[in-house]
Amino acid sequence: MAIEQPVTRPANARFSSGPCAKPPTFDLAALATAPLGRSHRAAPGKAKLKEAIERTRAVLGVPDDYRIGIVPASDTGAYEMAMWTMLGERHVEMLAWESFGAGWVTDALKQLKIDATEKVAPYGEIVDLAGVNFDNDVCFTWNGTTSGVRVPATFEIPADRAGLTLCDATSAAFAMDLPWDRLDVTTFSWQKVLGGEAAHGMIILSPRAVERLENYTPPWPLPKIFRLTKGGKLIEGIFVGETINTPSMLCVEDYLKALDWAESVGGLKGLIARADANADAIARFVNAHDWIDFLAADPATRSNTSVCLKFTDDRITDGAAFAKAVAKRLGDENVALDIGAYRDAPPGLRIWCGGTVETSDVEAMLPWLAWAFEAELAAQA
Ligand SMILES: Cc1ncc(COP(=O)(O)O)c(C=O)c1O
Repeated sequence: MAIEQPVTRPANARFSSGPCAKPPTFDLAALATAPLGRSHRAAPGKAKLKEAIERTRAVLGVPDDYRIGIVPASDTGAYEMAMWTMLGERHVEMLAWESFGAGWVTDALKQLKIDATEKVAPYGEIVDLAGVNFDNDVCFTWNGTTSGVRVPATFEIPADRAGLTLCDATSAAFAMDLPWDRLDVTTFSWQKVLGGEAAHGMIILSPRAVERLENYTPPWPLPKIFRLTKGGKLIEGIFVGETINTPSMLCVEDYLKALDWAESVGGLKGLIARADANADAIARFVNAHDWIDFLAADPATRSNTSVCLKFTDDRITDGAAFAKAVAKRLGDENVALDIGAYRDAPPGLRIWCGGTVETSDVEAMLPWLAWAFEAELAAQA
């Protein structure tokens, strides 16, 4: 018997976890205001870059004495720049609960070969945060994009820590409250929560991070794109828009438009509320169906951006093939694009719930998920 399809389709089927859906108001023609074909160091370009920095500060509530820079190579560039310039001064605790965090562990142990302890939780779980000693440097990912596990609200970094905290917040910034006074390095990419373009990263430094940069020289060589100091002093220009190398002014314009939209929905508070509403819609669906569950075991750690789900029905014979087939059906029907679990994660689905996604689209998509599940079960039988 054919399984009947739902009647309504989401207006926008883009639920990818990066690059994420553009803001609902996105209009390619609106980017015509970008200063293209000119030096990014000329006055108009520099002004745009500075505006991107200062409006990021305003929306995210970053303290005035923190530096914000636009750097090459997206979040990866920003985070590795921090690791390569600051680590090695003291013992490091490397915390990970999914594949990107695990990548930073590899960087520390196998590339930098520094004095480090690795604390890695399996997908769906989180490490013992109460056991972290913040007199060490601590590297971690606020929201594990590939596991849907984020630090719980009870997570507290001590104000009087001796070490630095290096936080990969790429799927958290603009969707979760970040305690700036407890974060020394925070990185993210434009391509995530605001639906901007890839290849540009942002790095936010506390005064303590700057102090480390100015007083510690790592024993390894640094390529030009990682260098944040010159002659033992911070290169202040980077933090007012004098980028290390050439940025795309088209991407900068796109980011500024995304910030316009972010402001129009109530800034950070509005963005968090939108992500929460999307994640709540999925939670209601999961609670109503006994064949699907969150990958994140503890509800307190469940992400409101990268929501990762697993199929739990024991009629499923090959979990990986089943999840892939469901994602393919949804993609083929153009109701949910790119929602298969990350390649290294357990089989399942990952549905992006950041603020650029409309709750009405999540709600319209979920009945299709039920349809695809039933249709695939029938096909398997
Ligand atoms: C937690 C996390 N860190 C790092 C990255 C890498 O980001 P990018 O490709 O923008 O450098 C991603 C991408 O999804 C991510 O989710």
